Amino acid sequence: MLSDKIQAALNEQINAELWSAYLYLSMGMYYEHKGLPGVANWFKIQFKEEQAHAEIFMNYLNRRGARVVLKPIAEVPVDGWDTPADVFKATLSHEQTVTALINNLYAMAEAEHDYATRDCLTWFVNEQVEEEENAQALIDKFTLVGDNGMGLYTLDRELAARTFVAPAILTKE
Ligand code: FEO
Repeated sequence: MLSDKIQAALNEQINAELWSAYLYLSMGMYYEHKGLPGVANWFKIQFKEEQAHAEIFMNYLNRRGARVVLKPIAEVPVDGWDTPADVFKATLSHEQTVTALINNLYAMAEAEHDYATRDCLTWFVNEQVEEEENAQALIDKFTLVGDNGMGLYTLDRELAARTFVAPAILTKE
């Protein structure tokens, strides 16, 4: 059985994942409007990824007989990302914040000797390494091309090819 403290903390994390989804949707819509459909597509896929993260936590709470309590999702920024390098820098910074949240949850589970929750969180610890790595790689690429039109066009096409693949942890349940 999960402690009240762990249940509350996991519900907070569900809200944080859904806030992340909303943030990335906002970034996607900004770039849709700006005319870079590939960048927009990358963020629309990221929107789905974050919803999948929330779903993993919801499934875990349900499997443990705990209650999922959905809270309001706070407002997200709607601009401030003039260039693709800016928007991926904001993404990296946000993912670093999420990594800290996951690490705090992991430490909390460990302190309570709640090893099942700790193991569930291990998936997220690894996912955060990938999230930060992906954002950094895109910062590097967009910084390299700067405002070179051909470079931007080529990178935008590359990002247009991204598709959503549900995490295996979700599809096997
Ligand atoms: Fe749910 Fe982008 O971490």
